[in-house]
Amino acid sequence: MIRSVVQGWGAYLPEKIVTNDDLAKFVDTSDSWIRERTGICQRHVAADGEMTSDLATNAARQALERAGIDGLEVDLIVLGTATPDETFPATATRVQEYIGAHRACAFDLQAACSGFIYALAVADNFIRLGQARTALVLGAETFSRILDWSDRTTCVLFGDGAGGVVLRAEEGEGSSADRGVLSTHLHSDGRQHDLLYADGGPSLNQVAGVVRMEGREVFRQAVAKLSQVVDEALEGNGFSVSDIDWLVPHQANKRILDSTAKKMGIGIDKMVVTVDRHANTSAASIPLALNEAASDQRIKEGDLVVMEAMGAGFTWASAALRW
Ligand code: UT7
Repeated sequence: MIRSVVQGWGAYLPEKIVTNDDLAKFVDTSDSWIRERTGICQRHVAADGEMTSDLATNAARQALERAGIDGLEVDLIVLGTATPDETFPATATRVQEYIGAHRACAFDLQAACSGFIYALAVADNFIRLGQARTALVLGAETFSRILDWSDRTTCVLFGDGAGGVVLRAEEGEGSSADRGVLSTHLHSDGRQHDLLYADGGPSLNQVAGVVRMEGREVFRQAVAKLSQVVDEALEGNGFSVSDIDWLVPHQANKRILDSTAKKMGIGIDKMVVTVDRHANTSAASIPLALNEAASDQRIKEGDLVVMEAMGAGFTWASAALRW
């Protein structure tokens, strides 16, 4: 059996940090409201001229270095993003150029906040089918570019960043065969479009648009869908909640993380939390969280890691991975 094993990981956050107090200077909000309702204390924001491809490239370089390989060994680049540099070509091809992955096929994948898990699923299937041996799976966003900075109900929630992993095919018996992506579970429901979307696009009105969201309803549906999709990952592999070493959720709101943990009966100490410092970085939030917990060695080889995400579309997804 072929498995997609994580060989390296990396992440990048823009230098500029915007605090809640900074936002309160130009929009009717407060540090206490944002902390209490979301758990967010600050977010990183890309500099002028710093693009999604730049963030993704920094994360990719770190992941390749950790994996001990160079760009030419990469067969596939899948970049989850809702904020590409340009309408076309794919931002992934820019990353390909910057890291010298000239042998790879490279494309973007749009599943909003679920983008990283969707990208992981696609890369894992390429690897299982033998169509790629080494894949770079990235999530990168510059949501600061598609926010209405006068809308306090959305502009306080998001941040910019990037992260990713290098997956390599491993086969055969033995302990290494137990590592890798065990399963992925993807869902979408286009009927929920109006609850969370950007009000622009090349075909619609030729502008990028800004984020529009019915936050309360998204929140309500998120908790239900996230616990369901984690259950699906556990059942699919014959695991129970107590088998999870680390739950790495999409970081949208600390209250969503707490409610999901409570609904599932998993301790908050088993959850990787970065939303306080990164805010919601959409497709980048899971690889940023993975990077943090793997780099400080909370996540260790052999740990069962379950990831989950939910976002616009709606899309929602989970993945079970033996690190
Ligand atoms: O990653 C994709 C998925 N996205 C999400 O998961 C986001 C899900 N939703 C949420 O995280 C929360 O619903 C929000 C953080 C967006 C909002 O929190 P809430 O507790 O659901 O607040 P609310 O929308 O019910 O608003 C409560 C009040 C309203 O005032 P009134 O109508 O009660 O007078 C809002 O206008 O809070 C007001 N409000 C704010 N006040 C200060 C909304 N945003 C702000 C703000 N600062 N930034």
